[in-house]
Amino acid sequence: MKLANKIALITGAGSGMGRVAALMFAKEGARIAAIDIDEKAALETARMIEAAGGKAIGVKADVSKSADAQAMVAATVDQLGAPHIVYNNAGIEGKAESIVQMADEDFDRVIAINLRGVWLGMKHAIPHMIKNGGGSIINTASIAALVGLRNSSAYCAAKAGVIAITRVAALEYGRYNIRVNAICPGAIDTPMVSRIQGGGTMSDRAIHRISTLGRIGKPEEIAKMALFLASDDASFATGAPFIVDGGWTVS
Ligand SMILES: NC(=O)c1ccc[n+]([C@@H]2O[C@H](COP(=O)([O-])OP(=O)(O)OC[C@H]3O[C@@H](n4cnc5c(N)ncnc54)[C@H](O)[C@@H]3O)[C@@H](O)[C@H]2O)c1
Repeated sequence: MKLANKIALITGAGSGMGRVAALMFAKEGARIAAIDIDEKAALETARMIEAAGGKAIGVKADVSKSADAQAMVAATVDQLGAPHIVYNNAGIEGKAESIVQMADEDFDRVIAINLRGVWLGMKHAIPHMIKNGGGSIINTASIAALVGLRNSSAYCAAKAGVIAITRVAALEYGRYNIRVNAICPGAIDTPMVSRIQGGGTMSDRAIHRISTLGRIGKPEEIAKMALFLASDDASFATGAPFIVDGGWTVS
């Protein structure tokens, strides 16, 4: 098992890629703190892990609030122990609106959850990881950090910011044996993508435009990258964005 005796805190673990990663990390031996703003969903992920023979807790937290981020780390430390792995995955798509259309508060909300939330997750977990002698932080960015997407100015800015703070954290905490990396998923089949499509399915043409492989990705294909980065297999990887996008950004 790749994560035997490790403790992993995963945000946005009540749905999509976060839930799949939580189940995969647990199968690899980690004890999981499944964090989500949706308490029922977080508890359901924990229940699924325990039903499969693992150990997990579900904790409600809004990652954009400092007190919540502090409390989610404290709950993890109290109930499982200090985390070795922190996967800052929670995020929202925000409203699809142009810069001129977008309300100031909608811009701020996306930045608060997708960027500040990642920063707060690191800020509150790192002191415990230092005491643990190190660990691995994985931050969820997006290909939206690398290319421009129409009607997604706040989302693109937040995700580019995630790559920036990932680099800074890698520089600041490398000497404590903490590796910090980001994942840039392409289009992945999760509830977020169904919401963006309004519940409909994508045309073949649209899919080929966003993936040279001609399909959208599965959450497992991102969880496997997260598992690699969380484990000692990635022992020399830090400060880097890892693109897993089916080739979206090659053209
Ligand atoms: N699905 C994609 O194609 C795609 C592509 C690139 C990046 N991403 C990013 O991957 C991450 C996971 O997305 P997903 O597709 O699994 O989405 P999802 O909507 O299925 O899951 C996101 C989870 O985050 C939780 N969440 C939202 N706001 C929160 C908050 N303030 N505090 C705590 N939890 C909160 C939600 O309740 C939900 O359970 C996000 O950061 C997203 O931006 C997704």
